[in-house]
Amino acid sequence: MRDVAIIGTGMTKFGELWDKSLHEIFVEAALKAIDDSGVERIDSMYIGNLSGGLFVGQEHLASLIPDYLGVCPIPATRVESACSSGALALKQAFLEVASGFSDIVLAGGVEKMTDVPTDVATYGLAAAADREYEAFQGITFPGLYALIARRHMYEYGTTREQLAMVAVKNHKNGAKNPHAQFPFEITIEQVLNSTLVADPLRLLDCSPITDGAAAVIVCPAEMAKEYTDKPIKIIGVGHATDTIALHGRNDITTLKATVEAGKRAYTMAGIKPEDIDLAEVHDCFTIAEICAMEDLGFAKKGEGGKAVEEGLTEIDGKIPINPSGGLKSKGHPVGATGIAQVVEVVTQLRGKAGERQVKDAKIGLTHNLGGSGGSVIVHILEVM
Ligand code: COA
Repeated sequence: MRDVAIIGTGMTKFGELWDKSLHEIFVEAALKAIDDSGVERIDSMYIGNLSGGLFVGQEHLASLIPDYLGVCPIPATRVESACSSGALALKQAFLEVASGFSDIVLAGGVEKMTDVPTDVATYGLAAAADREYEAFQGITFPGLYALIARRHMYEYGTTREQLAMVAVKNHKNGAKNPHAQFPFEITIEQVLNSTLVADPLRLLDCSPITDGAAAVIVCPAEMAKEYTDKPIKIIGVGHATDTIALHGRNDITTLKATVEAGKRAYTMAGIKPEDIDLAEVHDCFTIAEICAMEDLGFAKKGEGGKAVEEGLTEIDGKIPINPSGGLKSKGHPVGATGIAQVVEVVTQLRGKAGERQVKDAKIGLTHNLGGSGGSVIVHILEVM
């Protein structure tokens, strides 16, 4: 297997991009990545997308996107693994370059969710749960994560305030991110007084409904310095699955796919959680960030909430989590999220994150999760 590096990144602003179509935002992100890398061609591309069909009535992205990007006849593949579709696109691009099949590959993700009302978006998102046993009974993703939150509070004494602190910290970081959908700070009181969505989760515990796209260019590590002074090597890739429905799990406070994907990525990279300088984790709801910290080994089981309260996950803390603002503040255009996490880690490792820069960042991790933990992909990146 050849070593693989990221040589360029690009993303759109996240938010309600009502004046742009799905293919326009993908092309915008892709052109930024191509421009950033300086490549003159791409050999192949992967597009992460949860459901162009349900959100904007558009499928066949594997033809639409290369057409509007002007790169036909290169091969293009649309991949779907719910909210982890973006990371899956990168994993496939990694494998294609590592195997020697192609040299320069674009991995991107896109979702256009705000063209439909919230109830339709919620129906579309619920297609990523177990439709028969969960969605048909009326439970939505906020409801599923509310169950996880209640159980975590019951088992480990995690407090309502600790959940709020995740949102407060992520909005504080997102306020420094020009791409963020909600770039403003909030207080614990605002979180606690925001509209109840699914008890105990409130509006400000939830990631929003978002339009956005992100893209990266990968190539063999040995070619990377021809294009950039600061290539970022992909040193770990971990991918795992778990039951799609919560009722199939013995313990809903541990997302086993995260534990397994993390283990695989750490093993491949030959490092431990303590070696990670920063992480972008999948905080679709505040409780999800706490579970991810525990499942990835950044906090002991049951102590994720305490770690947030002690400030360990702040930009200047022991393990900075979601310096981009996370899904909570930056936004969550589901198919694009996994790539946007990688864009942030690459920006941090290149030392270009401005006001939200993590000092001396050398190794970063991304954790992209599908549904309520049915699929998870972890990537570990290092400065070359
Ligand atoms: N965080 C912060 N503010 C938010 C927000 C969020 N998650 N969602 C909406 N807002 C703001 C809006 O900007 C709007 O502000 P304004 O009145 O100043 O314009 C206000 O809150 C109401 O917005 P609205 O769009 O009417 O909210 P909604 O009730 O339709 O949707 C949620 C709110 C929480 C139900 C929706 O964002 C949601 O379903 N989120 C979860 C998405 C999800 O499940 N993703 C997959 C994860 S696995």
